[in-house]
Amino acid sequence: MTRLREWDLGTEDFAREAGLVGRILAVEASRHLSSRARRVRTPLEETEGSSLARLVCLVPVLRAGLALLEPFRELLPEASVGHIGIARDEHTLEARIYVERLPGNLADCEVFLLDPMLATGHSSAAALSVLKKAGARPEHLKLVCCVAAPEGVEVLNQEHPGVEILSAALDRKLNERGFILPGLGDFGDRLFGTI
Ligand code: URA
Repeated sequence: MTRLREWDLGTEDFAREAGLVGRILAVEASRHLSSRARRVRTPLEETEGSSLARLVCLVPVLRAGLALLEPFRELLPEASVGHIGIARDEHTLEARIYVERLPGNLADCEVFLLDPMLATGHSSAAALSVLKKAGARPEHLKLVCCVAAPEGVEVLNQEHPGVEILSAALDRKLNERGFILPGLGDFGDRLFGTI
């Protein structure tokens, strides 16, 4: 996280470090997934193993959430993937959804919403509403981020109580333009070199 925050970290290094954070988040997010017993035959004998009890769906919020998608797929290769595209109005900071492509069985899935920067909370809240409308259950929904601002956490706790938030860092506050302090700047721009 400290490397990710460095102002002069280039695009290639930023993507690599974000991938490392993503792997750690994937392990933490998966820690409490329920499993069921499964017999497995080793070369020597049969023994008790386990597999995931429920389906998993990964939903990156475009663009920044794409940084977390591959690390999560490495750990959960059988997961389905939905996409939500949200643009933030730079003046009102309101969220506008421009892409929504989700699997039809969200009600049966553990859903991980991948949205690296929880700032005002407007876009994550809008994405969670889309997921719930598509059938996802709050108790099986988790928001995964790299940096969260207290303001965003409060908005989500009010608008989506029961949805767990997993964040690599909880920062100090938002500035007047809705950026997280100390934060790391615009995650999507830094990831894709569009600064
Ligand atoms: N989105 C970002 O990418 N960075 C912030 O600081 C806030 C929202």
